[in-house]
Order: sequence, then C-alpha cells, then structure tokens
Amino acid sequence: TKQKLWGGRFTGKTDPLYVFSEVHVSTSEYSSSMHAFNQSLHYDKRMYAADVRGSIAYAKSLTLVGILNRDEEGKIVSGLQAVEKEWRDGNFQIKEDDEDIHTANERRLSELIGPLAGKLHTGRSRNDQVATDMRIWLLDECKSLENDLKALIRVLVGRADSERDYLMPGYTHLQRGQPIRWSHLLLSYALSFKNDLDRLRQVIPRISVLPLGSGALAGNPFSVDREFLARELGFESVAENSLWGVADRDFIAEFMMWSSLVMTHMSKMAEDLIIYSTAEFGFITLSDAYSTGSSIMPQKKNPDSLELLRGKSGRLFGNMAGFLMTLKGLPSTYNKDLQEDKEPLFDSVDNLSACLKIAEGVVSTLEVHTDKMLAALTMDVLATDLADYLVRKGIPFRETHHVSGRAVALAEARHCQINELTLADFQTLHKEFSEDVFSVFDFEASVERRQAIGGPSRKMLERQINRLRHELQ
Ligand code: ARG
Repeated sequence: TKQKLWGGRFTGKTDPLYVFSEVHVSTSEYSSSMHAFNQSLHYDKRMYAADVRGSIAYAKSLTLVGILNRDEEGKIVSGLQAVEKEWRDGNFQIKEDDEDIHTANERRLSELIGPLAGKLHTGRSRNDQVATDMRIWLLDECKSLENDLKALIRVLVGRADSERDYLMPGYTHLQRGQPIRWSHLLLSYALSFKNDLDRLRQVIPRISVLPLGSGALAGNPFSVDREFLARELGFESVAENSLWGVADRDFIAEFMMWSSLVMTHMSKMAEDLIIYSTAEFGFITLSDAYSTGSSIMPQKKNPDSLELLRGKSGRLFGNMAGFLMTLKGLPSTYNKDLQEDKEPLFDSVDNLSACLKIAEGVVSTLEVHTDKMLAALTMDVLATDLADYLVRKGIPFRETHHVSGRAVALAEARHCQINELTLADFQTLHKEFSEDVFSVFDFEASVERRQAIGGPSRKMLERQINRLRHELQ
C-alpha cells in the first residue's frame, strides 16, 4: 500500500533523507531530498476541485465506452465527491507519498472505494490530467478577475461622473501642459482597464481548450468521446493534437503577459496618484485605510497601498519572464519542467486579484482637493490656447506658437502671469491681437473648446462615460 502510483518500474526508493511534514517544505529543506524536490502537492492542492471535476467527467466518458459500468461509475463519482469534501472541510489527510494533487486524490479514492479506483486512470495520464486541471482552475479564476476588473472600472467611471467640475493641469514630462478635467484623467485609466477586459475575453478561448483524452502523449486508445468531455467540463473546444495537448502552456504564458499589461496600467495610475498625494502637489489624500505610518517619523502618512500596486507590477512581469525561460528550450510533449508553471501562475493570479481589489478601494476612498488643483493651474498652461486664438484669426500655427512663446517670455521677464500683460503688450507681439484676447484666459472655456472626440469637454466626458458603462453591462 506504501507504493508510489508510478512505482511499478522502480525498485529503489527515492532519497529518504527528507522527513515529511504537513507543514510546507521551505526552499532550504527542498533540495535536501529528491522526494521533496519532486513534490508539488503543497502548492497544487489548491486545484483539488478542478482535479475532481476532471476525474468525474473522465469516469463518465469511460462508462460511455464500456470500461466502467453504471454501478462502477456511481461508486467512483461518489468516492471522488467524498474526496473533494474532505479537502473542502480541511479533513484531507496528506500522506508522505502523495506527490501531487493527482496522486493524492487517486490514493485517497482507492482507500475509500478499493481497487475499483484503479480503473479511473485507464487511458489517462497525469500529463493530460494536469493540463486539464490547470485550464479548469484558470478559467474559474478568470471569471473572478473579470469581476474585479469591472469593479475597478466602475469605481473610476463613477468618480469621473460625479467629479466632472474639477479642473486640473494635465502633464507631459511631468511638466504642466494644458488644463484638463480630473474626470478625464480617471477615464483614461478606465479605458486602459477596459481594453484589458477585452483582452482577457480574447485570451479565454485559448485557455478553454480541452487536453483531456490526449493521454501521455499519443492520444486515447479507448475512443473516449472528447467532445462529450469538453461539454461536461465547459470547455469551448478540444485540443486537436495530443502532443500539443499535453505540452501546451502558452495559455499560461499568455495569461501572464495579460496580467503584466494590466499591472503596467496599475503601476502608471499608482505612480500618478503617489505624486498627486505629495504635500508638494496636494491634489489628493489617500484614506487612512490605504495608508501607513512611519515607525520613526510620527507625521508620516505613506501611500503604501499605491507603492505596492506599482511594485507588484515588477513581480508579475518577473513571473511571466521567468516562466518563458522555463518554456524556452523544452523538447516536445510533457517534461517535468512544466510543473514549474504553477507557482508563478498562482502568484500572478493571487497578486493581480489583490491589486485590483486594493486599487478599487484606494480609488473609491481617496479625497480630492480641488483648491490645490486650481492653484496649480497657472495661466501659462493656456499658452497653446493663446496661439490657437491667433490661428482663429487666420495666422499659421507655426507663427502663432512663436508669438505665444514670446508672450510667455515677456510675462516671465515682468514676473507676472500672461493674462496680466496689457493689450498694448500683446499688440507689440502681433497686430491681430484685440480686446477679446483676454477671453482666452479661462480654464473652463479652454477645456470646453475641446469638443472633438476624445477631448475633456463635458460633452466628450459624457460620451466616454456612456461608452464605458455600456461595455460594463
Ligand atoms: N505534478 C505534475 C505537474 O504538475 C503532474 C504531471 C506529472 N506527470 C509526469 N509524467 N510526471 O506537471
């Protein structure tokens, strides 16, 4: 009974140096024995439900081809359900020789229902089994990530909707550029995340491809109905090549690329908000719930939540890059290197899910200081508008840009704002300036002039908000 599930061809034992404990093996204990080194149960046990689901479907498919009778199928299915319940209730007793979730579940099934359990693995390999489990597990996670992403977009759109009046400088190179609405900035983040939502939906059909029935590598010799299996397990399609079916982990790489991209958007938003929360900017204050203090400087309120959102982008990118290195250079079909797909994938999923939820919390609770935003709106950010004023009088933009630049320089030399220059001053710069030039110096009017699609005017905000809300339905 103590034999390993794959132990038939072995006579020697694996290095017994490692003493099994229920506690997770730490990296230092790891290398001390082959047995521990090979084990993945301490992290792949989180796929227990996916493994049971795959096995139940497979048992049904074996009945359809006469390997099991109805009675045997019933016993296997209820045995598997009992195994799942043990995991769910935290009662599953891990044994020393349980190598991974697949061997653990099968070992336990055989304890519960006896030798009949040995029929379940007919024509199946852990190679098609693990690939199937990973896909089932990830498809479930994608559903909750989709909801987390939608919740974040909703919060961004909600704030954008209710804070349309707030004007602020828009920046390029972190230098004040032109006036915008705060809502316009929020909606720019929302648009990136909306595109991520689209991308996630586009990746799913490539995750939802069923490997089960690929066997170890050369397919299933018992003619199991793989389309039946796909239907049972909710897959959109069936892997058309068994060699590919057991080996493909592109869906994991692609998911990680996707999550890295989501995190670059997260990082940008976090970086903006960190800058805006400094005393020097003072545009926003994070709620206490998402800030922490300093152990030495009593006055400090640090934006740790945002820094972690920014920092974790590196971590998720690292998971992706590391896993691509694992894939690079592998020969065809299954190789044990592929067991290294799990920890980085699980880590990316867990951290992405946490980041989306934290970001939602940060954005929904932060306080906006419109007075500070307005104070940062110096008149020079209307220099483009001043150039545009002359354009409307028929002067070529390249010329008006220069004239406006000279107005900025003149104001600088006079230590005044550009709207404090006199009409006579303006007219020394260009003869087309007249009294109405002073109407240029109005931030709200500047923003409202931007009526083309994509601009920060009220009308275009309305359009963005409606479109995003429509996508979220
Ligand atoms: N624990 C393994 C993995 O995660 C399962 C597949 C093992 N297959 C094998 N032929 N050793 O990849």
